Amino acid sequence: MDRYAVIGHPVAHSLSPRIHAAFAETMGMALTYEALDITPENFAARLAELHGAGYLGLNVTVPHKQVAARAAEHLAERAAHAGAANTMIHTPKGWNADNTDGAGLFADLRNNLHLRLAGARIALIGAGGAARGVIAPLLAARPARLVISNRSREKPQQLAARFARLGLVEAATHGDLTRQRFDLVLNATSAGHRGLAPELPDALFAPGGTAYDLNYGPAATPFLDWARHSGAAHTSDGLGMLVEQAAESFRLWRGVRPPTAAVLAALRAD
Ligand code: ATR
Repeated sequence: MDRYAVIGHPVAHSLSPRIHAAFAETMGMALTYEALDITPENFAARLAELHGAGYLGLNVTVPHKQVAARAAEHLAERAAHAGAANTMIHTPKGWNADNTDGAGLFADLRNNLHLRLAGARIALIGAGGAARGVIAPLLAARPARLVISNRSREKPQQLAARFARLGLVEAATHGDLTRQRFDLVLNATSAGHRGLAPELPDALFAPGGTAYDLNYGPAATPFLDWARHSGAAHTSDGLGMLVEQAAESFRLWRGVRPPTAAVLAALRAD
């Protein structure tokens, strides 16, 4: 049977096995998809072993995404932009690495939430790995503005410089956003994992504005609660992004993109 897995540490609570099992069933494909806990110390050796064992594809999650990009035989352009890989594809010579996170976010915003990104004023909160992975697809949608905001100024400035070739990215600190209005505010910080929301000025949302957290579940709650109190008209966590990035990975491995709506609805119903 064709073998796939998600590798991470910890990985036991990953939803990816369930999502890919549902995709395989819908598409009538026989495959296995496991969750494999791999520690950072063992990463290189285990990655080579999985290749040797004939795994056809891997998803890569925390904390291995950056190392995976460096370990690959070949790196897709969007993984190079992100500086991280979430998808490995078996080739006879080694692993090809790609990154479907940005495409997953874009598909969720456009197809599931029906947001219009062209001409939108977008604030991206946070300047770590999660933010970096989504800048290129956001710029490709031709927003009116894309502002990256962080507690410290250096990181967003570095990102703005890095992506300048692809379009105008403004760098800011959260205080700079006072009296500015955005149609879409994306939380790409890790604050929610500690039960916190980033400290942002109130009144950040334009009328009809949307708050979106790249995290899902409890990690998305602090930011989305804050956003509702601050006047966001719509809020969403990143569960749709998770399902859509999985569908993009599935397409890279199997050549067909599975439908996502039923899987997303089933996860939301739990
Ligand atoms: P990831 O790879 O998940 O993006 P990261 O690289 O550690 O994680 O980046 C974390 C991001 O969350 C950073 O932008 C960080 O801001 P700083 O650069 O100022 O540290 C942001 N972050 C983490 N905790 C935060 C908090 N409590 N409030 C606001 N931003 C926070």
